[in-house]
Amino acid sequence: MCGIVGCVLKENRDAAPILFRCISNLEYRGYDSVGLATFDNKINVKKAKGKIRDVNASLNLENMAGKYGIAHTRWASAGRPTDENAHPHLDEKGRVAVVHNGTLENYSKLKEKLIGEGHTFKSTTDTEVIPHLIEKHMDEGLDLEHALRKTVEMLKGSYAIVAMCEDEAGKIVATRKDSPLSLGFGKEGYFVASDTPAILEYARDVIRPREGEIAVLSKNGIEIHDENDKTIERKPSKITWTADMAKKEGYDYFMLKEINDQPLAVKNTLGQKNNMKRIINEIGDVKRVCFVACGTSYHASITGKYLIESLAGISCDVIIASEFKYSAKTWDEDTLVVFISQSGETADSMTALRQAKQTSHTLAIVNVAGSAMWEEADHVIQTQAGPEIGVAATKTYLGQLTAIYLLAAAISGNDKITEELENVPSYIEEVISKADEIKELSKRYNFVHNAFYLGRGFSYPIALEGALKLKEISYVHGEGYAAGELKHGPLALVDEDMPVIVIIPPGADYDKTLTNLEEVRARGASILAVGSEGNDDLKSKSKEMISINPKVTDIIAPLVYTVPLQLLAYYVTVEKGYNPDQPRNLAKVITV
Ligand code: F6R
Repeated sequence: MCGIVGCVLKENRDAAPILFRCISNLEYRGYDSVGLATFDNKINVKKAKGKIRDVNASLNLENMAGKYGIAHTRWASAGRPTDENAHPHLDEKGRVAVVHNGTLENYSKLKEKLIGEGHTFKSTTDTEVIPHLIEKHMDEGLDLEHALRKTVEMLKGSYAIVAMCEDEAGKIVATRKDSPLSLGFGKEGYFVASDTPAILEYARDVIRPREGEIAVLSKNGIEIHDENDKTIERKPSKITWTADMAKKEGYDYFMLKEINDQPLAVKNTLGQKNNMKRIINEIGDVKRVCFVACGTSYHASITGKYLIESLAGISCDVIIASEFKYSAKTWDEDTLVVFISQSGETADSMTALRQAKQTSHTLAIVNVAGSAMWEEADHVIQTQAGPEIGVAATKTYLGQLTAIYLLAAAISGNDKITEELENVPSYIEEVISKADEIKELSKRYNFVHNAFYLGRGFSYPIALEGALKLKEISYVHGEGYAAGELKHGPLALVDEDMPVIVIIPPGADYDKTLTNLEEVRARGASILAVGSEGNDDLKSKSKEMISINPKVTDIIAPLVYTVPLQLLAYYVTVEKGYNPDQPRNLAKVITV
């Protein structure tokens, strides 16, 4: 997710130093390029790929004349991180400047049409169509505000847009859909930002505009207009958060915020459906698939194996990246080797990618644009989770899973599964609404030293991921097993002191998993079942139960049943007094 700031100052002083400070407040979120546009008789733009400090050192962003302007930090999605792709973007004549956050699904068609009408483009971003569309509508006689309204009517996807135009000096306009935006009323002037922490030092009275509304900022204030041009009166709320709390949007830790971001991560990643289809068409006949990854990304890959084998009926392997070299020679040109990585930088996966490229097609599914795997793989899909700050992967994991479902659908030609995924964001929201229940539950588990997680089929990787989340942040030893494996050894460890978490959604494996649950129950284990709401039989056989929407069956369970396990690990950790965002000995990017 990119960062946006805009401001119009009341007094006669330059806005650039304030814009620079505000945008620097978003540094913690991660980004790959930075840019500012101010108005001083004409629009001036400075922008480049790189970190704020470095770009400032070379371009002197703080030193730009003009009493108002807009600024942006980019987290690349459509188009690589380059100087040209950095925001703000301009129209043909350089009179309209725009910063944008979000993803436009129909930008290629709009761009093609605009090129046909004589517009030229400098970047490969989706955003650049916006200033050109605004220009076109202004040339047809509309003012900036109405040109923006007409433009967003043509856009499909998510956006927060902030724009200014030379012809309407002193004014900034802003609007949003499925992407956050805050308006700030401060002593020095009026602000707009994608993230409240950016402007908190200048404005604590904040309004969040609703979808369909357009905010018009000038030195006299902020007006909000609805779709019928009616002025909306809304009282600002006073933000009492500290800057640190605001960065976490009021959540105690980034991990909890990122768990809450998951419905959007899934929804936005579903927007990669056509890209995935295009890649699979380009590759042609895929006879065999091999996933390569580490840690949580490896767990996403196991779900991928089950999906591809069941939907496409072709053979699929999953290999831990550091073990790849031992079987690398068996892959050939009919094999698609898929690399899953949130960072796109993991050293073991990179080594395996270079090896796989010698024989096979390679596809990287990564969250960070411009990362090493993004650059080197033959094909790339970016999960749309946005920057993840917590070390433990949560929303990037759900983004990976979503992309993997799209991959399985594209290879098998079976679109039914992706239709089912449309409901997943609301299922995740339902689980998250039970956070307080899970918090209470966690208090009954915070004394334990060991826990088993059991699942079969699609629930097996859920068990592995639930156990990994618990151990990496709470330092409680959690171990995930294929439920049928238990009797081959680990059952010896089960007694009254061993909590066993059984992931048991409705579906083909339900009865067999219930038999495994009975096995551990007979040994006195304290069972926490994660199963379907309304399943009284399951409830009666378990000490505790987390109930999930009954419509979630085994095949889509990984996207939903993982969420309560993330929350359980999170609350056990916080209850123990540890910081879930920064587990000991671990790092977000592992380049060794
Ligand atoms: C666990 C976690 C790690 C990563 C692993 C691979 O929460 O985040 O297990 O999944 O280090 O990292 P990436 O996905 O960046 O290749």
